[in-house]
Amino acid sequence: MIQPASAIRSREHFMSALFTPFKLKDVTLRNRIAIPPMCQYSAIDGFINDWHISHYASLARGGAGLVIVEATAVSPEGRITPGCTGLWDDAQIEGMARVAAAIKAAGAVPGIQIAHAGRKASANRPWEGDDHIAPDDSRGWDTLAPSAVAFGAGLPKVPKAMTLAEIERVKADFAAAARRAREAGFEWLELHFAHGYLAQSFFSVDANQRDDQYGGDLAGRSRFIVETFDAVRDAWPNNLPLTARFGVIEYDGRDELTLKESIELTKTLRRKGLDLMSVSVGFSTPAARIPWGPAFLGPISQRVRREAEIPVASAWGFDSPPNAEHAVEAGQLDLVMVGRAHLSNPHWPYHAAKQLKVERPSWALPAPYAHWLERYAVAE
Ligand SMILES: Cc1cc2nc3c(=O)[nH]c(=O)nc-3n(C[C@H](O)[C@H](O)[C@H](O)COP(=O)(O)O)c2cc1C
Repeated sequence: MIQPASAIRSREHFMSALFTPFKLKDVTLRNRIAIPPMCQYSAIDGFINDWHISHYASLARGGAGLVIVEATAVSPEGRITPGCTGLWDDAQIEGMARVAAAIKAAGAVPGIQIAHAGRKASANRPWEGDDHIAPDDSRGWDTLAPSAVAFGAGLPKVPKAMTLAEIERVKADFAAAARRAREAGFEWLELHFAHGYLAQSFFSVDANQRDDQYGGDLAGRSRFIVETFDAVRDAWPNNLPLTARFGVIEYDGRDELTLKESIELTKTLRRKGLDLMSVSVGFSTPAARIPWGPAFLGPISQRVRREAEIPVASAWGFDSPPNAEHAVEAGQLDLVMVGRAHLSNPHWPYHAAKQLKVERPSWALPAPYAHWLERYAVAE
């Protein structure tokens, strides 16, 4: 059940809703700040390297309660780009275990997002174009989706419509990747059901034009997500948070209907054991008109939280500390995801604590930093 911030808060100790611990299953986060998954596009054949270790250690050291490792592919064709991380092979566990250990050593809970990019796979890295790899370029690969319908814009490649056998295989890939994530030491799992990737495109009325049991009405368009969730539920321990990221709205004009359907899906997943929903945008069509603005998903997240009766997180523009504080204080979010601001300043939680006048803000940092910052003021 939802823990209202007010119920577990002790103002004398924390003076801030954002800096109140958050317990979900057997895991307690030291505060409500989470770093959302952010692809580094720096792996080779899905294997992590020293970049990932230093990057995630530095983020975790900054004081966030939860650090979620980037979208990690459950199969080679599920990578967004050739630089994406993977957990489709037991040999990839060892590297990921180093990442999880580095996050944990810095006092944050290690989380990971597992993903299949569907028809958005086989793309160039963002700084190399962010578009589909050209058909005659040997670095590319064939993509999979519910139907043979391209996303469009810079991602024009037409995917292969998945057979029932391929659907079964990808569900099993998700379960196997979840098992490997646990073996690597992750304590929080996020299923990437968002952002126009494979799972979201099964839910999308644009991308999914199937006329079998995996398409059509709400139950049909939800089936891949629900069955994938069931497969992972069996593979992931019950005492650790099992969460999903999902685009509850597309901003394509069908907004209220999509939101209602998304809330129904969230309720179904909650009954099956979903512990938290990370509320995001669908990104299933380039025609979307998204009302970007600070904390714009706050009210929508609150609606999902209230109507589906499940803890929620969200991202996109919660990077001003007063906005992040307000989201928790007002009951919009249980966890606030702060992404790009952490790339700019990995010690974002320390600075947020100072701005919010939390008692002893340096507590957000490890002792070898905190000791000096508490004693001697530094120019900002
Ligand atoms: C470099 C980068 C990589 C990202 N990779 C992922 C990803 O792997 N999975 C995901 O769900 N979202 C991804 N996102 C979206 C972020 O998780 C987050 O929603 C977004 O940055 C908005 O939050 P912010 O305004 O705090 O940055 C990425 C964003 C950035 C900037």
